[in-house]
Amino acid sequence: MQRFKDKVVIVSGAGSGIGQAAAIRLASEGGTVACFDVNQAGLDETINTINSEGGTAKAWLCDVSNQDAVNNAIQEVVDQYSQLNALCNIAGILRFDHTTDLKLDDWNTIINVNLTGTFLMCQAAIPHLLKTRGSIVNMASTAALGAHAWTAAYSASKGGVFSLTKCLSVEYAKQGINANSVSPASISTPMAKASVLPEGFDQSLLAKIMPFDGPPRPPSKIASVIAFLASEDADHLNGIDIRADGGIMT
Ligand SMILES: NC(=O)c1ccc[n+]([C@@H]2O[C@H](COP(=O)([O-])OP(=O)(O)OC[C@H]3O[C@@H](n4cnc5c(N)ncnc54)[C@H](O)[C@@H]3O)[C@@H](O)[C@H]2O)c1
Repeated sequence: MQRFKDKVVIVSGAGSGIGQAAAIRLASEGGTVACFDVNQAGLDETINTINSEGGTAKAWLCDVSNQDAVNNAIQEVVDQYSQLNALCNIAGILRFDHTTDLKLDDWNTIINVNLTGTFLMCQAAIPHLLKTRGSIVNMASTAALGAHAWTAAYSASKGGVFSLTKCLSVEYAKQGINANSVSPASISTPMAKASVLPEGFDQSLLAKIMPFDGPPRPPSKIASVIAFLASEDADHLNGIDIRADGGIMT
């Protein structure tokens, strides 16, 4: 499948986990992938993997919560490749806290990266996506759809991404942009592995987050969904969220 031949795609969070898997998948389908992240070592790994498989990718060290950095990086991508066909906003951060202990600084950081970062990327990319009738794929979470304990900021940020995506899907539908989101659950990534539950947490609330020992859930399970939504195969999908959680919430 070469759904991204002659297409240029930006992937944020491309240095690790789901974003890295998405960048590799999009490149394997012929796309030129602009990889954004704050993790240089992770970006190097992604670019090396793509290059070794014969794909085309370039790294941008870019903090998605920094407006100047985002505007400059997206302009550089368009200057270099002359077009932008899809934007995949995968970068995100997570931490668990009892809500009464959650520091305002941590709340602000999570909202700034997950929600404001997604907004800034969309705002800067939309003028270019309008020229190609391109696609936006945002990363929501089952934490926004169902109840998770200890993730007040994270759940709120992902709920914001969910609503932002729907807003964009209506606002730009007539001009040919489609915007959709993905809501994964418990995918094996560095984020999931590094997450530390708050001290004294109530075990009985854990079932809401990790309810079963099912088959392995590597990031490639979500990369395929992202690639679908970013491709012309999903042209007639707009304003939807694909819950890719292996049935956890069913
Ligand atoms: N792993 C899961 O089960 C799961 C479930 C639901 C949603 N998600 C979402 O999927 C996305 C990817 O998560 P993951 O599990 O692959 O995590 P991950 O930690 O492996 O990858 C996240 C990447 O985002 C980058 N990043 C963080 N802050 C950034 C910033 N300010 N600017 C640019 N890049 C930044 C990190 O450096 C990292 O490379 C996140 O938005 C996350 O919330 C993950």
